[in-house]
Amino acid sequence: SWTPVNIITDAVEKIREKVGSSKAICALSGGVDSAVAALLVHRAIGDNLTCVFVDHGLLRQNEAEQVVKTFGEESEIKLLHIDARQRFLDKLAGVTDPEEKRKIIGEEFIRVFEDESKKIEDASFLVQGTLYSDVIESGTRDAAKIKSHHNVGGLPERMDLDLVEPLRALFKDEVRVVGSELGMPERMVWRQPFPGPGLAIRIIGDVTAERLEILRKADAVLQDEIRSAGWYRKLWQSFAVLPAISSVGVMGDARTYAYPVVIRAVTSDDAMTADWARIPYDLLEKISNRIINEVPGVNRVALDITSKPPGTIEWE
Ligand code: XMP
Repeated sequence: SWTPVNIITDAVEKIREKVGSSKAICALSGGVDSAVAALLVHRAIGDNLTCVFVDHGLLRQNEAEQVVKTFGEESEIKLLHIDARQRFLDKLAGVTDPEEKRKIIGEEFIRVFEDESKKIEDASFLVQGTLYSDVIESGTRDAAKIKSHHNVGGLPERMDLDLVEPLRALFKDEVRVVGSELGMPERMVWRQPFPGPGLAIRIIGDVTAERLEILRKADAVLQDEIRSAGWYRKLWQSFAVLPAISSVGVMGDARTYAYPVVIRAVTSDDAMTADWARIPYDLLEKISNRIINEVPGVNRVALDITSKPPGTIEWE
């Protein structure tokens, strides 16, 4: 019968059969899928698994630290933590086109990951957190071609490694149950979907260290308030967007000329369509006040009230 414990026992057994005494590597993205896949494989083969975490500097506040804490410090798992933040910033300098950003980030990710995995001698397996929904939906998504989605999931075909995909038969909610059972922190288990190119496609226009810092702070306030109000799990996604414009405001007696931040919060079942979330005014007020008081460089907060279609969930 279907219980998380049975799924785990079963998956662990299958992984052992497949990998035997060979070595495997796994790319951690900070998301729940790659994390659960890694935990399962670790349970099956222990030290023969090495996890690689490429920090591209485009995650949300504290997410990189969370990965390092969960997989590095508080576990027995071998973790290679690659600080590639400057590399990605250099590559993205001056790039404003959304698809160009995706392409650069995807390619750079593969390059860094390949370089690092060469250091793990005689690895013959690559662990990926492919879900059942990825397997059945990949056709439809490609056909739509509105945005090219890069995921840690779809990477290194040319690396000549055999794939281990322990989540291939599972739905997202089952993955979450398994993650919980394996002791993953709640934050990671229930994380809303987050795009592979990260904050780079939520900063309209140029991605700079300064603009990343502004968006990361504003987004952290938004997350904090959404969570405390009990809204986090009701929303498919909620995040802040930083447009490439400035507007005039007044703070104290002084004129300001600074960025606006846009709040995007949607409900959805599968991201193919979405509705803008009717967040209570009181909560919006708190978010707005806090962002403007706590985030230097921001003097205005706006709310996106566009559904999908005609909008997409992300702004880029
Ligand atoms: P859109 O913006 O197309 O997004 O309505 C639908 C879902 O896909 C996510 N998304 C991405 N995920 N790489 C990803 O891994 C990408 O480049 C990307 N673009 C959008 C988005 O967050 C939403 O959940």
